[in-house]
Amino acid sequence: MPMLKLNNVTKTFGEILAVEDISFEVSEGEFVFITGPSGSGKSTIIKLILRQFTPDSGEIFLNETDFGKLKYKEIPKMRQKIGIVFQDFKMIPDRTLWENVEVALAVTNVPRKEWKERVTHVIKLVGLEKRTSLFPSQLAGGELQRGSLARALVANPSIILADEPTGNLDWKTAESIMELFEQINKEGKTIIMATHHLGLIEKHKNRVIELNEGKVVSDSGSKKEEKGGKKEENKEEGKTEEQKELNISDKKSKSDEVEK
Ligand SMILES: Nc1ncnc2c1ncn2[C@@H]1O[C@H](COP(=O)(O)OP(=O)(O)OP(=O)(O)O)[C@@H](O)[C@H]1O
Ligand SMILES: [Mg+2]
Repeated sequence: MPMLKLNNVTKTFGEILAVEDISFEVSEGEFVFITGPSGSGKSTIIKLILRQFTPDSGEIFLNETDFGKLKYKEIPKMRQKIGIVFQDFKMIPDRTLWENVEVALAVTNVPRKEWKERVTHVIKLVGLEKRTSLFPSQLAGGELQRGSLARALVANPSIILADEPTGNLDWKTAESIMELFEQINKEGKTIIMATHHLGLIEKHKNRVIELNEGKVVSDSGSKKEEKGGKKEENKEEGKTEEQKELNISDKKSKSDEVEK
């Protein structure tokens, strides 16, 4: 059973068709990029998974729970299983970094006596131990994004959703944030990242779901088996980085074709 499953999901806003007939599955531990031009529906998909939007038709399952059958009051509990990272960080301006991370625990039933240990752990993970008493206005963009990743992780969600997390960062900082996401993924966390940052997509060989005008136009498929599977690993042996990259982009545009 996949961790996340979208079945023929359609969402409209009046006359606007935001996403149409979207279906894909994500297994535990996968790292998935959702890409496509502006307006193609990336954020809409993130918001549908968050249950910020309700689909017009289709189903969304997270950990086997059917979102369509959730009662309104059950939504906050479901959201606790999701960590979210935004492009503009969404830090509370008059709270310190420590408090901004801690606030994510206030809506959970994690006992208060565990908070300190949890916050310490995630702040260390993102390398901000020396910044805990600073306010958001005193932090650099990359630090703010590390902080929001710490906040997303502190309640130990089963999945992290990130909507253009590198959109406000320079290339080098974006890369360091990406490496942090990769590290978190290697430790087992499932990640879905909406981005149109092509450089990052090319560099980090993760699964890519490409959208255009609200539809899935390609899906490079799960990389999870490939990562651990001997067969795929052997195939990649002896190739230069450039060849591997070409193969990836080949797969992206002609996902149905057999690999050459
Ligand atoms: N709340 C809303 N009300 C009306 N239309 C909306 C709403 N949210 C999204 N849309 C429309 O749905 C379509 C998809 O928007 P979405 O924000 O998902 O695109 P995106 O791929 O995230 O774009 P970007 O790369 O610019 O962030 C757009 O045409 C947009 O105008
Ligand atoms: Mg968007």
